[in-house]
Amino acid sequence: MKKVLLYLKSYWKFALLAALLMGVEVTMDLLQPKLMEKIIDIGIAGMNLDFVLKTCLLMIGITIIGLFGGVGCSIFSTIAAQNIGADLRNDLFAKIQSFSFKNLDELNTGNLITVLTNDINTIQRIIMMGLAMMVRSPLLVIGSFIMAIITIPKLSWIIVLITPIIVAVLLTVNKRVYPLFYKVQQKLDQINTVIQENLAGIRVVKAFVRSNHEKERFRQSNEDYMLANITANQTMAVVMPLMILILNLAIVAVVWFGGIEINQGNLQAGSVIAFINYLMRLLQSLTMLGMVLIDISRATVSANRVENILKIEPTIKADHKQDDTFEIKGQIIFEDVSFSYDEDGEPTLSNLNFTIEAGETVGILGETGSGKSTLIQLIPRLYDVSSGRILIDGRDITEISPKTLRKQIGLVLQEAILFSGTIKENIGFGTGQISDQEMVEAAQIAQAEEFISSFKDSYDSPLSQRGVNLSGGQKQRLSIARTLALKTPILIFDDSTSAVDTKTESLILEALQQKRKDTTNIIIAQRISSIIEADKILVLEDGQITAIGTHQELLTTSKIYQDIYNSQFAKEEKNYA
Ligand SMILES: Nc1ncnc2c1ncn2[C@@H]1O[C@H](COP(=O)(O)OP(=O)(O)O)[C@@H](O)[C@H]1O
Ligand SMILES: [Mg+2]
Repeated sequence: MKKVLLYLKSYWKFALLAALLMGVEVTMDLLQPKLMEKIIDIGIAGMNLDFVLKTCLLMIGITIIGLFGGVGCSIFSTIAAQNIGADLRNDLFAKIQSFSFKNLDELNTGNLITVLTNDINTIQRIIMMGLAMMVRSPLLVIGSFIMAIITIPKLSWIIVLITPIIVAVLLTVNKRVYPLFYKVQQKLDQINTVIQENLAGIRVVKAFVRSNHEKERFRQSNEDYMLANITANQTMAVVMPLMILILNLAIVAVVWFGGIEINQGNLQAGSVIAFINYLMRLLQSLTMLGMVLIDISRATVSANRVENILKIEPTIKADHKQDDTFEIKGQIIFEDVSFSYDEDGEPTLSNLNFTIEAGETVGILGETGSGKSTLIQLIPRLYDVSSGRILIDGRDITEISPKTLRKQIGLVLQEAILFSGTIKENIGFGTGQISDQEMVEAAQIAQAEEFISSFKDSYDSPLSQRGVNLSGGQKQRLSIARTLALKTPILIFDDSTSAVDTKTESLILEALQQKRKDTTNIIIAQRISSIIEADKILVLEDGQITAIGTHQELLTTSKIYQDIYNSQFAKEEKNYA
């Protein structure tokens, strides 16, 4: 909560103005019963119409001033709250962008979305209300208390008696309601997770005819959320009738004892009415204070969740000692590199040792799950090695700033994820600004030029969300073009031609050899044909390198390579026979 409150600091002027204006409203509000008392006791009792009229005008004037105070307060508290909300959202978003893959593995997207939207909205709302109510309620409580006692000192015992009762009731309710609202928040999280997962995978859900199952899952979360909300609000609902009961009992006491005093000629009717008015204000504002406290505790839940994200340290981050001008030529050395996804888990990669010279093309072959994707993600430091080190041109990659490093390593991820926007925007995604010539060149190497030109708007054709209006192979080629546009000295392809036919694939590889002669290429492939011409092929088994060599060498030295070769080429001969 503390950290979130610090955001108020930048907007303290608005907060202060809001509080001051609320003070004006409360003061005006507290004057009303006093004026009413005068109208009744002096104006009406003395049949002084002139006095009644003047006092009425005064009351109207005071109401208008109070109104300005109230409106002004909400204007300034809104400004403060909305600004704080926007700042929080920006900082959270920036924080999430700074997270490493390891950080992201540990977070859940549904939760992140709830925090970025719902939690920040709650904080915003509470700040807005809090600025008004946190000033209004205590001032009104104290003010009414004092004014009532001044109005009829003899009846002050009624107020002294009921105030602690009300406070006790409110405290009891609050204590019960807080955990309930905490639960509401958790259920909402669950709902968001279900929605998020379902929307991301809606095509899979449909294809597997799992709509009913998913609907049930959603219905369950939705019902849990509803029930949690109902329980919380039901508990809250007890408050109002209880307060009204207490208020009515107090009014009866005031009328009773006030009546006796009036009969004895010690009091006038106007004073009793004013007293009852202050009593009502007192109770009202106490109840309001109770509600505000509940809201504040809800906001505390939200604020803590925001803070929990803000305080996560990115596991990989830049520091000023790192080189941010380093220019990569392309040699990559793995020195006894091991890696595991969680600290005390089984190693996913163990003791990798190999060298890739600048300008070489290296293939990586291995079963799914053998650690190929993991291996290549270590090179741009998407994950950090658990032990050993990786050198690029002789320099430990941890000594190079992550930004500088990643800018010079082109990575085509296994999953071709595109963004909504035009094809041009997608190809230029990593470059910021791309010339038409560069764009077309990248598309040509990726063998995407042909199908792009066949579209009505060519490079300006829009892609829908994540590029669903393209075939798998088209998506892969666009994502290759996007990486090629960066013109990096190192290129890594993580099984990026799996959805492309072999002929197109060999055209891509050929074009790469011609147009990007000096780059270091690392190609993960399923088919031996994709890497048959590589300078070196690494065979990965269970996170270990079991063979290194050219195609010819491996055919004679590696049993597993022979097996893969035989299975693939025997099959292909059959296929084309
Ligand atoms: N983000 C992750 N968190 C935990 N384990 C992972 C993660 N990604 C992959 N793994 C595990 O690491 C192993 C190697 O995966 P991966 O490198 O993707 O294999 P490949 O690319 O060769 O198919 C697998 O057993 C997989 O379950
Ligand atoms: Mg993989």
